[in-house]
Amino acid sequence: MRASARFRGRRRQRGLVLSGPELLMLKTKYRDLEQASPFEGTDRSGEPVKMPTKDETAAGSGGELHLETPEDFAQARGSFADYVKAKLGFRNYWYPALLSEELAGGEAKGVRLLGEKLLLRRVNGTVRAVQDQCLHMGVRFSRKPECYTADTITCWYHGFTYSLLDGKLVAILTEPGSKLCGKLSLKTYPVAEAKGIVFVFIGDGAPGPLSHDVPPGFLDDGLAINGIRDDVKTNWRVGAENGFDTTHIYIHRDSVLIPGNRLMLPIGLVPSNRQGIEVRDQSEPKGVLDHMAQSYSPVFEASIGGEKVVESRGLKGEKRVAATVSIWMPGSLKVDPWPDPELIQFEWYVPVDVDRHMYWRVLGKQAKSADEVEAFRLEFDSLWKTLALRGFNDQDIWAREGLEEFYRNDEAWTSEHLFKPDACKVAWRRLASRINRGIQPLK
Ligand code: FES
Ligand SMILES: [Fe+2]
Repeated sequence: MRASARFRGRRRQRGLVLSGPELLMLKTKYRDLEQASPFEGTDRSGEPVKMPTKDETAAGSGGELHLETPEDFAQARGSFADYVKAKLGFRNYWYPALLSEELAGGEAKGVRLLGEKLLLRRVNGTVRAVQDQCLHMGVRFSRKPECYTADTITCWYHGFTYSLLDGKLVAILTEPGSKLCGKLSLKTYPVAEAKGIVFVFIGDGAPGPLSHDVPPGFLDDGLAINGIRDDVKTNWRVGAENGFDTTHIYIHRDSVLIPGNRLMLPIGLVPSNRQGIEVRDQSEPKGVLDHMAQSYSPVFEASIGGEKVVESRGLKGEKRVAATVSIWMPGSLKVDPWPDPELIQFEWYVPVDVDRHMYWRVLGKQAKSADEVEAFRLEFDSLWKTLALRGFNDQDIWAREGLEEFYRNDEAWTSEHLFKPDACKVAWRRLASRINRGIQPLK
């Protein structure tokens, strides 16, 4: 039995002390998890889960698991140089900017993405985005937005007025008939709206489809979405790597979510075979998948010098979650299922500036009718927002703030000492370096 062998091996390697009944219980749970896993063949969104062949693992994705020694990791560093440069993220992708409801009342809102300042407003039902900086003397419109007509923005300082449709300067309120009108234009940005989220394309030229830049399944018909967004004072890469880190769940061991939703959650997950990490780089979106249920060994307790010091509160949980965790370009996460077997969690880590990112926490649930959509909205507001998004993921924000001081400096990427479970993060860094559509330049 694969699960038993894995538990024996892990126990021997890590010196864990599990009693006979406890060990039997864990073996049974994880054997059942593997056998009953609905994730073999396809994930919940119907996307095929392509397990690499033996040859592929030797050459590519599964080969990341060869990263075990300090020399392995040192050698891997050269292959993620672009990622280190991407302090402001990757250019020519769609990014979530605002919740649709934030523009519902006709407001004009300023937002900063990848260091660029944007102003968004709904015009006749369609959201428009222009550069949030007056061409006269550079002030931001969003400091005091003035919209005298449905499709214009007027600068609060001297009254330069621009079309929100094409960015053209159409009037100057303090110099009627100015010769400048029609000769200056604000930069405009492509906008797409889906699942209650306003996405903006940050790049050059015509954008590709939104479906190429969001996690697979996010746009599926019938998937109802609810979420929140917050400002976090760290670089976006710290956010992305915190989400995709299989042993960072150590920080969540005292989360209210574990007993609150009876989750079976270990304190760490260690890759146990070469099929654990899948790099998907032949189709859009591009990303890296961690096949947790199939190829990772759980760690439920830990000892120092033979004395047990930590035990997971998830040891006695019944609900199985996080069978697959995946990260996608340009910087989003999918945890399937999470924080309940009926839900999927999506996250985005959108660069705001070099030392800030917008953290999106979004839950998806299948809903077949308007009533089910509304029921999920109530469930989200009354339960999941507090129990899961705050009660679990606020711990991630705290952890990222702890990482920021170190990773603020480029030397961090060469002085860190990674260990075997970090192989998935290295796979992500390498993919992002190899296939990105452009690095956002530093101003
Ligand atoms: S700075 Fe905007 S009108 Fe003068
Ligand atoms: Fe986390």
